[in-house]
Amino acid sequence: MVSTSLPGGTWTLGDLTVTRFGYGAMQLAGPWVMGPPADHHGALAVLREAVELGITHIDTADAYGPHVTNRLIREALHPYPRDLHVVTKVGADRDAQGGWPPARDPAALRRAVHDNLRNLGLDVLDLVNLRLGDAEGRRPESVAEAFGTLADLRRDGLIRHLGVSNATAEQVAEARAVAPVVCVQNMYNLAHRDDDELIDTLAADGIAYVPFFPLGGFSPLQSSTLSSVATRLGATPMAVALAWLLQRSPNILLIPGTSSVTHLRENIAGAGLVLTPGDLDELSVIRWAGTADESGVDHR
Ligand SMILES: NC(=O)c1ccc[n+]([C@@H]2O[C@H](COP(=O)([O-])OP(=O)(O)OC[C@H]3O[C@@H](n4cnc5c(N)ncnc54)[C@H](OP(=O)(O)O)[C@@H]3O)[C@@H](O)[C@H]2O)c1
Repeated sequence: MVSTSLPGGTWTLGDLTVTRFGYGAMQLAGPWVMGPPADHHGALAVLREAVELGITHIDTADAYGPHVTNRLIREALHPYPRDLHVVTKVGADRDAQGGWPPARDPAALRRAVHDNLRNLGLDVLDLVNLRLGDAEGRRPESVAEAFGTLADLRRDGLIRHLGVSNATAEQVAEARAVAPVVCVQNMYNLAHRDDDELIDTLAADGIAYVPFFPLGGFSPLQSSTLSSVATRLGATPMAVALAWLLQRSPNILLIPGTSSVTHLRENIAGAGLVLTPGDLDELSVIRWAGTADESGVDHR
């Protein structure tokens, strides 16, 4: 078992031990997750600092850029430390307008897995999430064929573990009937808690829940209640939001994104904040009726 001093300790994804405090690489690409970063060396520095600080879980996708974040991860960290696990996603392409068109037919999925392997410089991908839905959010589509394709690639030895993203509870169940699911990556944060029941069900089954947009993503979390709790505790709203997630359930893994070494350090320091039952009660009134996804579209 790998030990860590990072807040939250560790979790085991299949047979991979990861720090519950991970790092989401999406924001390292250019504006709206297209093209190269404005500061190439700064992006490499953030990735190296994440590993230096003990993070062993980096979340990415070859659609980021496209190909940009995976190549940055390779440039910054290859050959990878043995305990580092890079988790990627397949199931969406990018178009010239920066959209995220679904790409879940068998040929597209196979191509995406090989693109990830090549751009990350790996022979086997530790964990691949099948990204479902579209720019409007989750969709009640069947996942059996697409997940079956990834299960075949897993049997071929190209993937160790599988997960799903942007998935409804029904889609998680359908995927689990095809192959083991070790994590579900959906949008969830202090203000967006549609998945409360799903999180508890997954926790009971030992499956990780990885909230994307833990800090609100393209629309940073804003709430007077959050600000007042943070001020009372002498912390930042980001620290409270991350600490709340770690305390929400032991199966929650954090992948906050940042392009700043300073913010990365602040987030690690802040996530260890201990919230009392009184703080949690106060925070429980926060609700935001909107939804947004990787496209950055705010659907309020
Ligand atoms: N499965 C999916 O469909 C899906 C969708 C979206 C995202 N994801 C994954 O989830 C990860 C997390 O999402 P995200 O990065 O978009 O959103 P996020 O973690 O909620 O927020 C990132 C934003 O918060 C800012 N930030 C971070 N720490 C801060 C601090 N201490 N002070 C002030 N601002 C701070 C960042 O700006 P700075 O760069 O200035 O720090 C960035 O703009 C992504 O990296 C990606 O891997 C998955």
